[in-house]
Amino acid sequence: MLEVDGVTTRYGAITALHGASLEVHAGELVALVGPNGAGKTTLLNTVAGLLSPATGSVRFDGEDITGMEPASLVRRGLALVPEHRRIFKDLSVEENLRIGGTTASAADRKQRLEEAAELFPVLRAKWTTSAGFLSGGEAQQLAVARALMSNPRLILLDEPTMGLAPTLVDVVFDLLQRLREQGRTLLVVEQNATRILQIADRGYLLRTGNIIASGTGAELAADTSLFESFIGGDAGSAT
Ligand SMILES: Nc1ncnc2c1ncn2[C@@H]1O[C@H](COP(=O)(O)OP(=O)(O)O)[C@@H](O)[C@H]1O
Ligand SMILES: [Mg+2]
Repeated sequence: MLEVDGVTTRYGAITALHGASLEVHAGELVALVGPNGAGKTTLLNTVAGLLSPATGSVRFDGEDITGMEPASLVRRGLALVPEHRRIFKDLSVEENLRIGGTTASAADRKQRLEEAAELFPVLRAKWTTSAGFLSGGEAQQLAVARALMSNPRLILLDEPTMGLAPTLVDVVFDLLQRLREQGRTLLVVEQNATRILQIADRGYLLRTGNIIASGTGAELAADTSLFESFIGGDAGSAT
């Protein structure tokens, strides 16, 4: 479903990704793990069209989408749940969801709002509340619910449990499982490497802009060199 091939992405003189390649097959949950500054966000943002790669290509469902606008990608069925959630704090829960559904027809949008209220009772209870008043866990659920408004087949999630209390981390992990049971395909960047690899079909380890290991979740989780590379990684990023 997704093929990232030899992608190099730069911020001016800084090269954040050095020819990274990975693939995600339909129905898979793929984990992307690695220390802080490894280039995980850069990779997701490049796939989502927020950044343009200097070299390499990105294919989605066989189509070359390299350098396409984010809105075109949303219409094709690819959605990003960005790092730090990035919901609109001054808008209500419902308004945030409506923004996520701008590419959908009015009828689809109405149906998906109903689905969001069903899937996220916590959000239904705060439907007209400004998103700025939500807790971290609620805001994360809103960020995911907003992405679902475009009915994506492939969802990229960037650190969905960052800053959440342990019980809310459980809520988000349950949500990932549910999305997968709905038949969605997921590429998840996650600091809880051990835990995401337990539920992932496959995973990739990114370090200083290079994919340095890949395998099934179980293989990577059992690979002690993975954990060594975390410990040897940038300060404070060991899981
Ligand atoms: N907007 C930016 N301008 C310059 N450098 C950046 C920018 N964003 C990220 N970087 C650099 O690119 C590298 C990868 O960052 P990032 O993709 O955010 O890593 P991760 O998500 O794995 O923590 C880091 O060295 C970071 O400092
Ligand atoms: Mg990041």
